[in-house]
Amino acid sequence: MEKDIARVLLSQEQIQTRVEEMGRQIAWDYRGKNPAMVCILKGAVMFYTDLLRAMPIQLSMDFMAVSSYGKRTKSSGEVEIRKDLSTSIENRHVIIVEDIIDSGFTLTYLTRMLAARGAASIKVCTLLDKPSRRAPGITLKSDYSGFVVGDEFVVGYGLDYAEAYRNLPYIGVLKPEVYENN
Ligand code: PRP
Repeated sequence: MEKDIARVLLSQEQIQTRVEEMGRQIAWDYRGKNPAMVCILKGAVMFYTDLLRAMPIQLSMDFMAVSSYGKRTKSSGEVEIRKDLSTSIENRHVIIVEDIIDSGFTLTYLTRMLAARGAASIKVCTLLDKPSRRAPGITLKSDYSGFVVGDEFVVGYGLDYAEAYRNLPYIGVLKPEVYENN
């Protein structure tokens, strides 16, 4: 696994420091509001669990899974819901937790969909933001963003290539030969 990594982009320590900072900030902003913390599977799972452990306030947890890259619907800006929330978000203050914003299609779709379900408010929290990859016409911005990254293929800490590398404890740049040969 490690042999496929060209270089470490964000170390375990850098991630931990920033995630704890973000957790403290969000906890302060949402004190007394009992936010509904929505994890978008699978990529966000490591970030989500670390973030929530850095938030010493009352909150609730729920999970969604949406369609992945390469799907025809994705390029048209539509997202397929593979697993929906198990609780109502009506009148709740929702924070969507994602690992990365790339084209921005997923979060644009999700924020609209959850708004239509009557959430009191919706904000977006992402660990990584790749603004250079944003699709034309997408104006979505992250309310809480961990790191801005360039247009490189990053894996680890939840992020995958073909379902591998999610369990690396850091975020690394994948060697191009790994994905170019497939
Ligand atoms: C990734 C990521 C976001 C989405 C971002 O998920 O976790 O959900 O893509 O891309 P976008 O801004 O272009 O919409 P992916 O579909 O790879 O699934 P995964 O989280 O299970 O890896």
